[in-house]
Amino acid sequence: FKLGVLASGRGTNLQSIIDHTESGSLAARIAVILSDREDAGALERGRRHGIESRFVDPKAFPDKRAYNAELVSILQSRAVDLVCLAGYMRIVREPFFEAFPNRIVNIHPSLLPAFPGLDVQQKAIDYGVKFSGCTVHYVNEDVDSGPIILQAVVPVEDTDDAETLAARILEQEHIIYPRAIQWIVDKKIRIDHRRVVRAES
Ligand code: GRF
Repeated sequence: FKLGVLASGRGTNLQSIIDHTESGSLAARIAVILSDREDAGALERGRRHGIESRFVDPKAFPDKRAYNAELVSILQSRAVDLVCLAGYMRIVREPFFEAFPNRIVNIHPSLLPAFPGLDVQQKAIDYGVKFSGCTVHYVNEDVDSGPIILQAVVPVEDTDDAETLAARILEQEHIIYPRAIQWIVDKKIRIDHRRVVRAES
């Protein structure tokens, strides 16, 4: 089972996926890592583990569709079964969905549908919620609103700032993302309308 990972940043979720594939607790391998940022820590992490890790410059393409088409063509050429977004800061667009129908997943640092978008740990604190967490979900055309696969909950403490809350959430991200991917590898789940449910074995 081959994964393609898209990442823009430091890549700790990517690292967690790498670690789980190397230890065998995730029965998949990362075929390629793609980034829209040349300086992404994720590329460095991938290379360190001998994984093909490529910067694809958005500026080298006339428009977003052409850029997305290039990413898709690389992913298809590596026969990727599942596309994992891990801190990828761009909106995934066609031709992704026609190429990978229900085959793109993301991790988001809030309990969706609360707090979609950016800077969500600060938004959770400002709102005053007592619990937040993270969500692994399928990616569709609407940002942060695809079918939810798995969530983990953490408390929000009175003393939290965005950074301390983000760290508490991140710890859970590193646990649930590989687990959700393993469910997909094992065909343990299916999508029923917009609900992700256990597949009959
Ligand atoms: C994570 O908080 C993830 O939920 C969000 O972007 C952040 C990426 O962190 N989508 P990292 O690059 O995986 O360390």
